[in-house]
Parts: sequence; C-alpha cells; structure tokens
Amino acid sequence: MRGSIGIIDSGVGGLTVAKEILQRLPTESVIYIGDRERCPYGPRPAEEVREYTIEMATALSKMGIKMLVIACNTATAVALEEVRKLFSFPIIGVITPGARAAVNATKTGKIAVLGTIGTIKSSAYDKEVLNLLPDATIIPLACPEFVPIVESGQYKSEFASEVVKRTLHAIVDKDFDAAILGCTHYPLLESYIQTHLPDHVKIISSAIETARDVEQTLLVNGIGNLSKSHKKPVFFTTGSPEDFLEIVVDWLSIEEPDVRHIEL
Ligand code: DGL
Repeated sequence: MRGSIGIIDSGVGGLTVAKEILQRLPTESVIYIGDRERCPYGPRPAEEVREYTIEMATALSKMGIKMLVIACNTATAVALEEVRKLFSFPIIGVITPGARAAVNATKTGKIAVLGTIGTIKSSAYDKEVLNLLPDATIIPLACPEFVPIVESGQYKSEFASEVVKRTLHAIVDKDFDAAILGCTHYPLLESYIQTHLPDHVKIISSAIETARDVEQTLLVNGIGNLSKSHKKPVFFTTGSPEDFLEIVVDWLSIEEPDVRHIEL
C-alpha cells in the first residue's frame, strides 16, 4: 500500500471524492478509511473530530501513503491545519475546492451552503468564499438528518426525498443561484436536493474540483505514478465491512471491492 493516495472520511461520504479521484487518475492507487463506527462527526465537538482525524491520518501514514485527502468537510473545517503540521506528505481538504467551484458557478454571488452542524458552525465556507469573492452573500443551512440517511443506505428512498424537502424548506424561498454540497455524503442525495430547490440553482459538489487539486498536488510534488500498473483500491472501515461493501459496489461500480475492517 506504499505510495498510495490516502482518503479519509467519517463514513461512506468520502467515496464521492474517491470516485472522482479514481476516474481522473486511473493509474493511482487509493487507500480509504471511513470511520463508520464513530459517524456522524457533524454534531461532535471540534476537539473530538480533530482527534479522530489524526488517528486516521496516522494509520494511513504507517501504511506509507504519499499524500492525504481529507474527504470530509467537517474534519477539513476543524483539523486540516493541525494535521498538516503533523505529517510531511501533502494534505488537501475539500473546502477550498468546493468554495472555488461555487464562486466559478455563481452569477449573483449569492450562495447557499449545506453542511453538517460542525461545518456550518465553523463558517469555513464563508471564509473561503469571501476570500475569493468579497461581495458574496452566504446562506448557510445545517442538515443534520442527511448523513444518517446516507450511512443507513436509505439514500434512494421516498423517506430521503421527504427529509430533504423538509430540511430545504428553510431556504427554498431565499435568493441564491448556487448551493454547495458542503458535506461529502450529500452527493448521494443530489437528485433529491436538485428536485427540492428551484431549477435555476446550480448544485456544487467539491468532488470533481478536489480530484483536480489531487492531480495538481501530485504534479507539483513530482509524486504521480508514472508506471501504467496500479493496485486495486483498498477500503477500510471501523464498522461492518459488509454494509460498507454494498455502498462501494453501488456508488463506485467496483465488482468485488477489497473492503476490510480496521481498529483505530
Ligand atoms: N462526510 C462528512 C462531511 O463532509 C462528515 C459527515 C458527518 O460525519 O457528520 O462533513
């Protein structure tokens, strides 16, 4: 597993980022950890999220990764800077790429941010967006019910649609033309989110933009895999590998994925 790209999240959400990385960089090897046992991170105190993020980064560091992607907005918001100080390999998060994508997409500068309680409380997106577009208006919305729906595999259900509709009701009449999916679990609910927001609102996921940043980071640091051979991705979960496997198969369309349990 030496020389792989490490990807971490509280659960299956980071798979939305892993999917884009695997598509964009097919010769790279990927190791993923989803801390499903302790998911969701969103409602947890920042100190706890930091501690768990460092545990996952340490586990991947011991496996010899060459770079790390914190594919979790909540962890990026509260732990990115601290984790960067602890390891010598390049580390990127998902908030800067997401903010950049939203700024490129908006015409009015009015941007909704959907995220976990932790991400919304941190105002991390507000800071990033305002850095790039000082006149922007941010409409933040915490969506604490979304992650449990995705983690329980109910992301294609009438129930999911109802919860999305009820949650988005709080902002549906407000004036904005872009909505950031500020949690990596949310792309699995994207079709419902699009349905329950006005048609003109562009839905922004940071996954594609993050994959671009990964490519750039490999290039700048001269650590891309130049050979054509790559190892099969390995997915670790602190929870049950069986449940995790189902979502990997469905979302990444990988037949017989290598899913293993890990204790942190
Ligand atoms: N997928 C994560 C995020 O992007 C975390 C969700 C959670 O564990 O609450 O914020």
